[in-house]
Amino acid sequence: MAVLICGGAGYIGSHNVRVFMKHGEEVIVVDNLVTGHRASVPDNVKFYEGDIRNGEVLDKIFTENKIDAVIHFCACSLVGESVEKPLKYFDNNVWGMISLLEAMQRNNIDKIIFSSSAATYGEPDRIPILESDNTNPTNPYGESKLIMEKMMKWVSNQHKINYVSLRYFNVAGAWKDGSIGEDHRYETHLVPLILQVPLGKRPHITVYGDDYPTKDGTCIRDYVHVCDIAEAHVLALNYLRNGGKSDIFNLGSGDGYSVMEMINAARKVSGHAIPVEIGARRPGDPARLVADSHKAREILKWSPEYVTMEDIISTAWAWHKSHPQGYTD
Ligand code: NAD
Ligand code: UFG
Repeated sequence: MAVLICGGAGYIGSHNVRVFMKHGEEVIVVDNLVTGHRASVPDNVKFYEGDIRNGEVLDKIFTENKIDAVIHFCACSLVGESVEKPLKYFDNNVWGMISLLEAMQRNNIDKIIFSSSAATYGEPDRIPILESDNTNPTNPYGESKLIMEKMMKWVSNQHKINYVSLRYFNVAGAWKDGSIGEDHRYETHLVPLILQVPLGKRPHITVYGDDYPTKDGTCIRDYVHVCDIAEAHVLALNYLRNGGKSDIFNLGSGDGYSVMEMINAARKVSGHAIPVEIGARRPGDPARLVADSHKAREILKWSPEYVTMEDIISTAWAWHKSHPQGYTD
């Protein structure tokens, strides 16, 4: 039996492909390569170039292979773009989930692990954030992820489909040897943008606001390594295989780091001064987002390997230094 990794050519999906293979799983990938890279998927993995909104593509994959479970990473995931083009997000994210759940029903696939996001919470009521806290997304991206979670809940009540929804906080880092990593052609994430400075691609990093009510005035986030995220997916799948019930789990380190602390860690790792410019606040940025991940640790037995920011950033640096232009496809 194989697992189908939808969006397996993307940043987080490609690390999952490798981690699932490391655990002895047979992996099949479907990806439309809109933001993913064919070169991020090993040649010995069966790869379907296609869109999950096309039910015929999914039926073909489910018919041609013996598939036990779906790991679902496909999404548009730019918060700012989602505010400007909300329907693009509901089309790809929500319609993608409908199409996938319909195909799973048609083909009797009963397990799905889903990439959700801290964006489902919106402005948090308290820190650290628990899975049971209020969900009030402040942008269409977060709303689409919350709708997708709710769709899985209602479908699982009615049909024999069990799900685990993993709400990631800030994912960062790369495969340890730097052979695969983050390559978003339109990059918004802090760690790759900081590392563009020592790469000579930008003169400085702009800090979006230093007047937040935090220790150094810059925003606090919960950064978690992409391979630790991937290990959580393997644990979540085995949890469902062992009869675990459908559920939602936060994935974060539980520790908050400020933007300035991340820049200082990158200075240490890269040996570069990394000049800083203080800019305006980015609209919609909460001051602090930190996960309470006890539930994943207790129930899934998740235990992240990368605990310091230097550890996380040094893997990202290994990737960017060896692939300054990213993937070449
Ligand atoms: P990514 O853009 O690198 O990966 C998404 C992949 O899905 C890409 O390879 C893309 O080509 C593919 N895809 C998108 N729509 C598709 C469709 N309709 N059919 C087939 N393939 C399609 O993004 P990522 O950073 O790897 O994020 C993966 C998932 O994790 C997303 O669902 C995102 O919302 C979620 N997430 C990411 C973060 C983060 O910090 N990067 C945080 C929280 C949640
Ligand atoms: N930041 C800067 N300068 C930059 C880029 C980012 O100061 O050039 C700051 C941001 O203001 C924020 C922090 O660095 O305080 C992290 O920003 P990212 O864009 O890397 O990540 P976000 O916290 O905005 O986004 C993350 C996930 C999203 C998810 C969101 C939930 O990447 O998928 O959390 O709020 F939707």
